[in-house]
Amino acid sequence: MAHTIVIFGASGDLTSRKLIPALYVMFTKKRLPEGSRIVGVSRSHFEHEQWRELLRSTTEQFAGEAFNAETWNRFSENVFYQAGDIKDPDDFRSLASFLETIEPQENSGRVYYLSTMPQLYEEAIKQLGAAGLADDTDGFRRVIIEKPFGTDLQTAQNLNRSIHTVFREDQIYRIDHYLGKETVQNIFALRFANSIFEPIWNRRYVDNIQITAAEEVMIGRRAGYYDTSGILRDMFQNHILQLMMITAMEPPARYDAAMVRDEKVKVLHSIRRMTGGDFAANTVRGQYDGYLNEEGVPKGSQTETFAAIKLYCDNWRWKGVPFYLRSGKGMSCRTTQIVIQFKNVPHILFGEKTREPLGNRLVIQVQPAEGIQLHFETKVPDSEMKTRTSTMDFSFRHAPGGNSMPDAYQRLLVDSLTGDASLFARSDEVELAWGIIDPIIAAWRSPAAPDLFTYEPGLWGPDEAKSWMQNQHREWFDVC
Ligand code: BG6
Repeated sequence: MAHTIVIFGASGDLTSRKLIPALYVMFTKKRLPEGSRIVGVSRSHFEHEQWRELLRSTTEQFAGEAFNAETWNRFSENVFYQAGDIKDPDDFRSLASFLETIEPQENSGRVYYLSTMPQLYEEAIKQLGAAGLADDTDGFRRVIIEKPFGTDLQTAQNLNRSIHTVFREDQIYRIDHYLGKETVQNIFALRFANSIFEPIWNRRYVDNIQITAAEEVMIGRRAGYYDTSGILRDMFQNHILQLMMITAMEPPARYDAAMVRDEKVKVLHSIRRMTGGDFAANTVRGQYDGYLNEEGVPKGSQTETFAAIKLYCDNWRWKGVPFYLRSGKGMSCRTTQIVIQFKNVPHILFGEKTREPLGNRLVIQVQPAEGIQLHFETKVPDSEMKTRTSTMDFSFRHAPGGNSMPDAYQRLLVDSLTGDASLFARSDEVELAWGIIDPIIAAWRSPAAPDLFTYEPGLWGPDEAKSWMQNQHREWFDVC
């Protein structure tokens, strides 16, 4: 059934680069029903036709091969624009009247997508409530909230509290686009649709887990946001902890929103909070050389563009297994990957083999080379008894149907319309995640903060991140 998606912050980049192309592609796949309405709201003034024209060119660019003029025309017939200021109650009343003119009378559902500046989220929610736009007697009313969800635990709690005065938790979809990535969802398949991994997915066989989200890009023109955020808020509180939860969680009894999120939340509960000397011992912070010269970065800024942290899950499955989480801008390549490094064999039989650790590892490549590799030892042919690490390699792109990996927003937008919140964050989840990250940020801002190391762009972050691992008799597994 066709529903309505109202995008607040419609003139922003996210709308033209991601949301509209994603909705359009889902329309071409017939997963967004014919007649679905999209209404853009922001302060600028556009006629419907003008806005459609603007979106046409960006969609052509970002939807790539999926773009087709005739299909676009059918899709864009139901794309509308309504000028409005988040702070103006009259504009919300006009929006409500406009929606009535384009929607059939009954059972028409609506999703409100907040893609505005985060400082406006509370106001937008309040206005939606005041204008009666949250009332779901005539069809569902849901709200999607972009990241960042708060800037710390306190602000996230406040935001949750004010949203809950207007929307029930089951109407709220907190988006983390990493959960929309096919390869992230594939971790569920890998873990819970196979019997061979589960027996070894625990402290008895796993030595450590490394989760890396490396980006070649620097901060570009985002200093205004980035310098107050830093890498822990930008990547760890959300994307990286999400990857950790899915890697570490117990199998849910059913694949549904409540059970999946219950299990993820248990992981957050089990993460040992850092205190005292942990901040120096278990974290490495870095800033790329040149950051201070980026446009808009305040003089002498101590904001981190790289972080490596070690966390432990104190539970039966993972007790004692370090989770090394690492992310940085200005790294040697763009890659997001999860490495499950297995323990060495208990007794090394082959004399030449002194290298540690041995090669048993499973690498989940989230992007850009989406796939899974299993590394294991094999005999070097024609050697006496030498071994080397070989790889079994699964590539999504070479698998049937894998040549066009969907953008993360496609799946998430459709899930919000069908009412499946499994891949969205729950209120307790975001708050717990802040509860883990906040103390690290506080320690890094304190007079006793560990050193901030400068690193050359184009490498794997500061050398100290490497020596930190070596001091723990481990090494990063870096693949580009
Ligand atoms: C965003 C961060 O949430 O994720 C950006 O704000 C980061 O700083 C981006 O570049 C990374 O997303 P992706 O999908 O390109 O890995």
